[in-house]
Amino acid sequence: MQEANRLKRLPLYLFTIIDELKKRARDKGMDVIDFGMGSPDQPAPAHVVQRLCESAQITENHRYSRPDGEVERRLRRTIANWYKGRFGIELDPETEVLPLIGSKEGIAHLCLAFLNNDDFVIVPSPAYPVHFNGVIIAGGVLYNIPIVQEKGFLPDLSSIPKEVVKRAKLMFLSYPHNPTGAVCDIHFFEEVVNWASGKNILIAHDLTYSDIVFDGYKAPSFLQVKGAKEMGVEFHTLSKSYNMAGWRIGFVVGNAEILKTLGKTKSYLDFGIFRAVQEAAVAALEGPQDCVEKMVKLYKERRDALVDGLNAVGWKTEKPKATFYVWTRIPPKYSALTALEFAKLLVDEIGVAVAPGTGFGEYGEGYVRFALVESVERIRLALQRIKGFLDVKS
Ligand SMILES: Cc1ncc(COP(=O)(O)O)c(C=O)c1O
Repeated sequence: MQEANRLKRLPLYLFTIIDELKKRARDKGMDVIDFGMGSPDQPAPAHVVQRLCESAQITENHRYSRPDGEVERRLRRTIANWYKGRFGIELDPETEVLPLIGSKEGIAHLCLAFLNNDDFVIVPSPAYPVHFNGVIIAGGVLYNIPIVQEKGFLPDLSSIPKEVVKRAKLMFLSYPHNPTGAVCDIHFFEEVVNWASGKNILIAHDLTYSDIVFDGYKAPSFLQVKGAKEMGVEFHTLSKSYNMAGWRIGFVVGNAEILKTLGKTKSYLDFGIFRAVQEAAVAALEGPQDCVEKMVKLYKERRDALVDGLNAVGWKTEKPKATFYVWTRIPPKYSALTALEFAKLLVDEIGVAVAPGTGFGEYGEGYVRFALVESVERIRLALQRIKGFLDVKS
């Protein structure tokens, strides 16, 4: 059986590459220290797990989820309240809030909901893979804007050719940014709204890492800018803030018309989220937030241990102000290698798995990403191995 042509156009999926690299090392009997995938290693908060268990006992919750159900309405109200408290933005829970089976699902379906063949989509590169793979699967045409360290990994909107702007229907943005850890301030979003006004381009902002911020930085919402709701939506997830990655729950808020079209698309394809998970999400968003603070503190310790350690062994690396990723250039003496070759070498020789930058698009070449999902002790062990590797090879 031949797979569909739209699948053939997809690049090899990043996590498939990483999995193969790790398997090879483990088959050789190595203890792999795994900084590959951004899958949180800590448990979801105890009160959230408890709510899941209680809600799973309720027979009614085992039925298909329906948008007009009591639990569903409560979740949408909770999300709207959270937004108001967090960003000062008023949202209509009935029309401006749409829960998702994880934000990845919503992002992919947004592409399917809006793109006709040959519609252009503007995506900064490197990017979280579904921002470009979703476009390819939906049959759109990808226009990558390279984002570079020298410009804070922010896109230069004035560099987009007029022809592309004319044919563009959608633009993805995401700050704090995976994989680079870059952040932006509200002025950048103002610039985006000014630029997009009157152009009929849907702006989709992915705010997955709103809570994982350090050193006093606060992540703004795109919707805080006047006029943003007329053109855009914002994606969120509980995967990272509450360590609920496997539970599959996120949400998108913003423009009611856009959400209606996305909701319509989803109604043909899925039956929503297990109600017990929705109830648990209410507990997470409404409950005490000290669990989030504790998690951020843990990531900060890991970030500092890794980045200070890399610099100490001569691998120049900057500290990100947000996300749980460390994005760093391949050390100069390996600059002849591609990111994938370098990542393979690290895992083969010392059992340290990182994500090759090209897994996030062509402009990720020359970089690797460490996800801070290993303990400080394991980070120290990885640093010892990296030191040995760099010393031997010098
Ligand atoms: C930028 C970004 N968006 C979306 C996702 C996916 O989140 P979810 O688990 O809600 O699908 C991730 C996960 O790593 C991410 O980094």
